Amino acid sequence: MAARRRTAVLISGRGSNMESLIAAAAAPDFPAEIVLVLSNNPDAGGLATAAAAGIPARAIDHRPFGRDRAAHEAEIDAALREASVEIVCLAGYMRLLTPYLVGRWAGRMLNIHPSLLPDFKGLHTHERAIEAGVGHHGCSVHVVTEDLDAGPVVAQARVPVLPGDTPEALAARVLVEEHRLYPEALARFALSLPV
Ligand code: GRF
Repeated sequence: MAARRRTAVLISGRGSNMESLIAAAAAPDFPAEIVLVLSNNPDAGGLATAAAAGIPARAIDHRPFGRDRAAHEAEIDAALREASVEIVCLAGYMRLLTPYLVGRWAGRMLNIHPSLLPDFKGLHTHERAIEAGVGHHGCSVHVVTEDLDAGPVVAQARVPVLPGDTPEALAARVLVEEHRLYPEALARFALSLPV
């Protein structure tokens, strides 16, 4: 088997998608290994989950950097390079990226977004899907580019929107699909990367 691609996951909160990636990558034949978890938020619950799974996990708090996003991103980038990371997976990472970090990881950074892109970019996707009266909703894994939630989609999963759905009920239905889709998309992406 070819070398497993060294992958980092960037989180800001509970990290359930990160957990699904770690679980999938625990299989020895999975084409990526999770070597690092970073959070911009020191209180992210996912940091303890990652550490418990034996994955190096650390916070690089954005707050001391104030408005200097580039300086915060430079530190993130340094941590990724130090760990010889090849692929970056954003998983509930709630910071907008500047062209600097996106450019450093062009073609090597994925994100999971809880909508059927290009519909409902940005926040509050489940509320907006219900308000719009769509029959289906879902999640997308896409390559990260400079524009928010606009890079090439590599995988999607659909769920029905049911009568009487609340945003929470719909989010839970989508999340089940996210946990299945992201590992599958990462595996395919890792196999497709040039050596
Ligand atoms: C997920 O719904 C993800 O798609 C969105 O934020 C949520 C993060 O959840 N970007 P978790 O931290 O992975 O549990």
